[in-house]
Amino acid sequence: MAIGIFPGRTAAVRPQSEANDPAARPAVVCRAVTKEFGRGDTRTVALRGVDLEVRPGQMTLLVGPSGCGKTTLISIIAGLLQPTGGAVEVLGRDLARMPGGALVRFRRQNIGFVFQQYNLLPALSAAENAAVPLMIAGLPRSDAVRRAGAVLEAVGLGGRGHSLPAELSGGQEQRVAIARALVHEPRLLVCDEPTAALDAQSGQTVMELLRRVAVQPDRAVIVVTHDSRVFDFGDRIAHMNDGRVDHVAVAGGRVP
Ligand SMILES: Nc1ncnc2c1ncn2[C@@H]1O[C@H](COP(=O)(O)OP(=O)(O)OP(=O)(O)O)[C@@H](O)[C@H]1O
Ligand SMILES: [Mg+2]
Repeated sequence: MAIGIFPGRTAAVRPQSEANDPAARPAVVCRAVTKEFGRGDTRTVALRGVDLEVRPGQMTLLVGPSGCGKTTLISIIAGLLQPTGGAVEVLGRDLARMPGGALVRFRRQNIGFVFQQYNLLPALSAAENAAVPLMIAGLPRSDAVRRAGAVLEAVGLGGRGHSLPAELSGGQEQRVAIARALVHEPRLLVCDEPTAALDAQSGQTVMELLRRVAVQPDRAVIVVTHDSRVFDFGDRIAHMNDGRVDHVAVAGGRVP
């Protein structure tokens, strides 16, 4: 990576040519995806037929009013929730055709998820929190924490590896959550409202960080946001409304 957190990886240059190559195989393809919650009187239709392609080497923003289905859609893309209908292909794999155990392994290896409320474990230090995906993957604890420390460094928290979440600011907690989502080098990073709880400056820092660290030629990043201050950072903006993607527009692709 450009910042050298993962030794042995090819140095990253911003992948303009690939990012703009419409023939590059999409990282994510959603076709007529529907999702219903509940039954009878409590039935809610969250997704009404989503069609969406997410390109590798790009940051795709997913925007739209509260309740339009953004979290539901990215949870389905990340394999955390099953759709009611339609097809979802992620990194060339049809999620519906993967048995449960294979899906869990695929998700652990290939997908990083940044939750809106961080979901850090309060009793673990920043470095331990960031190391969790590596420990789940079976890496010895000391190696996992060492590698997590390097990623914390990359997100600007080099000196805070020993801090507990309660000792960190909201922006710092968000960066630990991002480090945790990146530590196993996922090919697809999905972030739910990563700047919602942050002031303008911290929000900008987080978006610059995501661009710098996560946007790579063979990787894709999806960021759900209602925050118009960050629209410039995406390569494309998919607009959702009432359970559908209405249209996809080209965005600023601002490089820090
Ligand atoms: N587990 C659930 N059970 C029942 N209904 C749900 C569930 N999760 C989401 N919904 C409903 O599905 C719809 C879409 O919700 P979703 O959380 O995807 O919206 P969103 O676009 O992420 O909204 P926000 O911007 O407020 O986070 C809403 O009407 C919501 O109430
Ligand atoms: Mg949401």
